[in-house]
Amino acid sequence: MTVTALIVAAGKGERLGGGLPKQYRMLGGKPVVRRAVEALVRHPSVQSVRVVVGKGQQALAAEALGGLDVGPLIIGGAERADSVRAGLAELSGDAVLVHDAARPFCPRQLVDRLLAPLEFFDGAAPVLAVGDTLARASDRLGEPIDRSGVVRVQTPQAFRLGPLRKAYANWAGGKSPTDETNVARAAGLSVAAVEGDWALEKITTASDFRRAEDWLAARLVQRTGIGFDVHAFGGEGPIMLGGVEIPHPRGLAGHSDADVVLHSITDALLGSAGLGDIGEHFPPSDPKWKGAASEIFLAHSANLVRTRGGIIDHVDCTVICEEPKLGPHRLVIKRKVAAILGLDERQVSIKATTSDGLGFTGRREGIAAQAVASVRLEID
Ligand code: CTP
Ligand code: MG
Repeated sequence: MTVTALIVAAGKGERLGGGLPKQYRMLGGKPVVRRAVEALVRHPSVQSVRVVVGKGQQALAAEALGGLDVGPLIIGGAERADSVRAGLAELSGDAVLVHDAARPFCPRQLVDRLLAPLEFFDGAAPVLAVGDTLARASDRLGEPIDRSGVVRVQTPQAFRLGPLRKAYANWAGGKSPTDETNVARAAGLSVAAVEGDWALEKITTASDFRRAEDWLAARLVQRTGIGFDVHAFGGEGPIMLGGVEIPHPRGLAGHSDADVVLHSITDALLGSAGLGDIGEHFPPSDPKWKGAASEIFLAHSANLVRTRGGIIDHVDCTVICEEPKLGPHRLVIKRKVAAILGLDERQVSIKATTSDGLGFTGRREGIAAQAVASVRLEID
């Protein structure tokens, strides 16, 4: 079954107020819509993700989604249903997960729960029981509403693409539907109710936004990764350290540019998120990486960590060698590493030491580097 996620982000966020539409606001250092998209991009059962944005919001959306594989942006309409319709028209494949950009946290297991019923049902939606008393109200409290058998319906909602498209085409309800279950029910489709999740609460008001910030802070865990690398002297200089060319009579031997600083930091970052090591991602046996600039490895590993919801707080690297002397180059290296990682230079530390004449570094046979990366990761 091929599954596409369709994220609707074309709203104006009027109930939250305050100018910038809520889906483009920063939540824990990332735009809300980016969180919604990343949760689905990284799900193994989702083959592609498309995003519907408001007319005139393309630049905002492109900036918020930079680096994510979402294909061309789709332009939405005046109501949510118009945006969904515009999105559905662009899709192909067997199934679609329609999701609100205003729900930034989508647990992986929830997507599994939604896709499983599609074997027997036209669709599936996450629901939560209502705990509070329900009543009608305008300026004063009116009639109570019986809450037994009543649920709150969240997104994402999973549907077989063909039946959902048809249901939208046949929608004859007066008011614009607020989600897909409305449309599906009117068309007589079968929709399974699966257990929803508190994490999926939609950001609608300012207090929802504050709750989302608190919730996020509580789910970040601190992780540390370690990296180590050695290259032997061989051939002629210059050498590359931390992405900076350093004049030296002897060069460093290696398959790529033999940059021990960038290699050790790359491994530390991969380690912090449990993503394997540099050799797995860039095998030395692959001719593609011969002579490659190690910046590529580092930028790629940082991107992997961030795509998994990680926030890179700090990296620290110690270079171990008798020569060259690193003092004059330290600041340049620090700035370069910070630039590659998209960090402030205060979040990068570059240190150097000798091994007091002992061992292979002491005998000036090569250079070693150790690094640690401190990262905050979201737990699923
Ligand atoms: N949405 C959309 N197109 C619209 C209206 C809404 O794609 N014309 C999207 C929103 O961006 C949001 C989701 O549908 O991700 C749920 O809508 P809602 O919470 O109502 O968001 P807004 O319409 O932006 O907010 P408000 O109703 O407060 O203006
Ligand atoms: Mg709305």
